[in-house]
Amino acid sequence: MASLNNFTSLNENHANNPHFEQVLQAHISRRTILKGSMGTAASLLFGSKQALAENNKLSLHFQAVAKTLEDKLTLAAGYSWSVLLATGDPLNDITPDYANDGSDSAKTFAQRAGDHHDGMQFFGMNASGQWDPYATDRGLLCINHEAVSAAYLHPQGQTIVDGKRSVEAEVIKEMLAHGVSVVEVKRSGNSFTLVRNSPKNRRITTFTDSEITGPAARSPQLVTHYSHTGTRTRGTVANCANGHTPWGTYLTCEENWAGFFRCTASDESQRSPRELAAFKRYGIGGKGKELWATVQPDTAAKDYGRWHVARNGTSNNGSDDYRHVANTFGWVVEIDPFNPDSTPKKRTALGRFAHEGAWPGQVVPGQPLVWYMGCDSRHEYIYKYVSTARWDPADAHRGLAAGDKYLNDGQLYVARFNADGSGEWLALQFGQNGITAEATPFAFIDQADVLIHARLAADAAGATKMDRPEWGAVNPRNGEVYMTLTGNPSRAFDKVDAANPRYYNDPRLGEPQKGNANGHIIRWTEASSRNDATHFAWDIFLFAARSSADAANVNLSALTAANDFSSPDGLWFAKSGLLWIETDDHAYTDVSNCMLLAAIPGTVGDGHVASILNADKEQLKRINTPVGAAPGEERLRRFLVGPVDCEITGLTESPDGRALFVNIQHPGETTNGASFRINDPTTYLSHWPDSGMARPRSATIVITRDDGGMVGADLA
Ligand code: FEO
Ligand code: CA
Ligand code: CA
Ligand code: CA
Repeated sequence: MASLNNFTSLNENHANNPHFEQVLQAHISRRTILKGSMGTAASLLFGSKQALAENNKLSLHFQAVAKTLEDKLTLAAGYSWSVLLATGDPLNDITPDYANDGSDSAKTFAQRAGDHHDGMQFFGMNASGQWDPYATDRGLLCINHEAVSAAYLHPQGQTIVDGKRSVEAEVIKEMLAHGVSVVEVKRSGNSFTLVRNSPKNRRITTFTDSEITGPAARSPQLVTHYSHTGTRTRGTVANCANGHTPWGTYLTCEENWAGFFRCTASDESQRSPRELAAFKRYGIGGKGKELWATVQPDTAAKDYGRWHVARNGTSNNGSDDYRHVANTFGWVVEIDPFNPDSTPKKRTALGRFAHEGAWPGQVVPGQPLVWYMGCDSRHEYIYKYVSTARWDPADAHRGLAAGDKYLNDGQLYVARFNADGSGEWLALQFGQNGITAEATPFAFIDQADVLIHARLAADAAGATKMDRPEWGAVNPRNGEVYMTLTGNPSRAFDKVDAANPRYYNDPRLGEPQKGNANGHIIRWTEASSRNDATHFAWDIFLFAARSSADAANVNLSALTAANDFSSPDGLWFAKSGLLWIETDDHAYTDVSNCMLLAAIPGTVGDGHVASILNADKEQLKRINTPVGAAPGEERLRRFLVGPVDCEITGLTESPDGRALFVNIQHPGETTNGASFRINDPTTYLSHWPDSGMARPRSATIVITRDDGGMVGADLA
């Protein structure tokens, strides 16, 4: 029995609270009864994949918006938007309003929204302040803050003297502007507003004490000055996309953490060849992205030295320095938003890499739980985690204790995509798939070592190198999994394969862009529709391209002016089965700012095998690959275009589907351009959302349909 959506199996009593499932179920029940195809109480309660597939009558409820380079938010007619929470907005009334001129005091950021809003999730909340997946009018929004636009945070940008940060307050402000916000929101008229002063409002930052759990906890490789037992670390950073659990907790995912650590050539000279191999594979090396380790004086309370992967203590085990600190980052971190005093838990069973996000598969009582994950760098891999424990709906309100049960014990896999449209999940297990003590070039010690060095284990297992995995999303109607591959200019002509089949030139402003400049969206269906399957079938749902590109070999999804795009990143299924696609574009911004599109997906195998001819100089290479049916403008349209120099990311909806929350990340982020001067607002690329000559800010917006209906689509 498949569940209708991820969490329907909770089967809660919500008699006074009509929610989307009830609307959908009424629709399905009517149809199934009419068709006489299925009639058991259980199938009507939970739905079935067959019934939902047969009744897939979604239609887009908007006209496409045009591409634009204007510094404004352009939204489909018949919809409205408002800013819910922008960078620096106070979470309570004690904290002053945000001046947004760099003058706001550093420590107030512990009670302000952070910067660079990214992945997020809405959790419905009942009158008792507890999780209620069907509560439509009140909830907690968990929002990642992936990075900062430091130039706008300080009066004159970062103060750097002789390669070092010289103003401690600036460093503190930046360290507090990373992490996660948990904020209460409530329905207000047709839309939602922030509940300032809610006791649930909370910031989690790079300072927040965090527990390390699962098989890698207590590893000697996690011992630091902060935790001699290798069971704690301070904070989370580079919180990109996200996930959630069927017990109402949030998963924040550490992506580009490696760049935050300082590791100079003299530091490297102190390290073993094995450690250096790991640093190289994870991209650890250099001065540290924001130079946080360089500010003086350092204190035990602030511990700036923890951003320096230095062997500068005298201990043998690393308990007096931070030589191992980078091993305490790169994890999926579980947060209980309903318990503001709870300690975030890093879940090492899900492996350590550049985690984009962790997306739950279908939740079926008696089956293992599963999360799909991407590692976002060029040529990196797609992973899946399968819990050892089988889902028991009685765990639905056990919070982090349920996390201990399902997220600390399981099997991590990595994907191999075969040329014939089949695929395999390769276990990342010590002693299997070439992951052994004899492996070269990296010999593994034990399973904790495999998880800490999951990228190297995936190398040994022979996983398929992908064109930068970003977000995944699981179709609530049939469990099929979609994942964006945002693009890969390093995809070489002679390294194309069926799952990453394009090498082409997409000129931008007269400059060549080679490889796979625009990206694509791959999808798969697990064998027998089981979460714990080790085999799957896949095809490519959608190829991003300019609509004017070569239809036979580049614009293979027949995109038009109404729906062409580049660099798919955020990807998210509404409960209705509508698929939202967000872009983080570096290839198409000569034509349009980043955008949000809505798609009505088909199913794996609904298309054909395409024969793609790639060309480079005098050489030709043909790749045959399974491609989904082109959606056309009926099933794929542009819904929103963001302001200049932003990324559209983060998506979640109220449980009734009538409010859509979207993050507009870093408008005007380019502050290293030749013309940029912080003292001259006319040089800023964007002034969104405050307009005039304001400094631009990241923000969560809420979108509603003016007639109060479901955002984006109708269900006939
Ligand atoms: Fe933080 Fe891969 O996006
Ligand atoms: Ca992303
Ligand atoms: Ca991206
Ligand atoms: Ca970004």
